Amino acid sequence: MRLDKLLANMGFGSRKEVRQLLKKGAIQVQGEQVKDPALHVDPQIDEVTILGERVVYREFIYLMMHKPQGVISATEDTRDQTVIDLLDDEYRHFEPFPVGRLDKDTEGLLLITNDGKLTHELLSPKKEVPKTYYAHIEGVVSEEDINRFAEGVTLEDGYFTKPGKLRILKSATISEIELTITEGKFHQVKRMFEAVGKRVVYLKRLSMGPLQLDEKLLLGEYRELTDEELSMLRNEKG
Ligand code: URA
Repeated sequence: MRLDKLLANMGFGSRKEVRQLLKKGAIQVQGEQVKDPALHVDPQIDEVTILGERVVYREFIYLMMHKPQGVISATEDTRDQTVIDLLDDEYRHFEPFPVGRLDKDTEGLLLITNDGKLTHELLSPKKEVPKTYYAHIEGVVSEEDINRFAEGVTLEDGYFTKPGKLRILKSATISEIELTITEGKFHQVKRMFEAVGKRVVYLKRLSMGPLQLDEKLLLGEYRELTDEELSMLRNEKG
């Protein structure tokens, strides 16, 4: 890879700005000062430093976000703030995207990455990756709902869902539940409750496969996945 491309990809400025750095003598490759932006480097092997600091090359980033309400799960939007708008430039230059969608009014776990292959596999309907949601439901959720979800319910468009595992945490006029589903149809949790005559008034995703929302993250905060989380995720999709 060209040296100027590598440094620009790693967020050290535009190609033009990187060339200025090279001109100033700020860059070394294998301990030697270099000025040629077209120099070919192997980012995995060659030691590149900028003002004495090692440039650690990586292709992919993996972030866990605690998505807040009011923000949309997209890379750009003309009207609304997106989850990508919440990221620092340090991450944005990797051109990441959200893995699947949470509704604008849904909170909770959202994985953000630029690894298209992993994303594709996590979202593949064939993999049936389980997703668990916590919700407040208008209406008394009952044993009967548990049984109906366990069999699958028919949505308003005629689609018959796969079984969902419903747990009632509190049965009241506003009930509290947890629901695990293995699909990701548009508004699926909300539509499953509509199918049994109830309404979701608050929705938060707690987990996706082996990945659990880190409750230390405040709404809108994010962090990189740990090596352990990443390897669990990779095993899940396999
Ligand atoms: N189901 C929904 O209805 N909304 C979400 O955001 C996620 C799952």
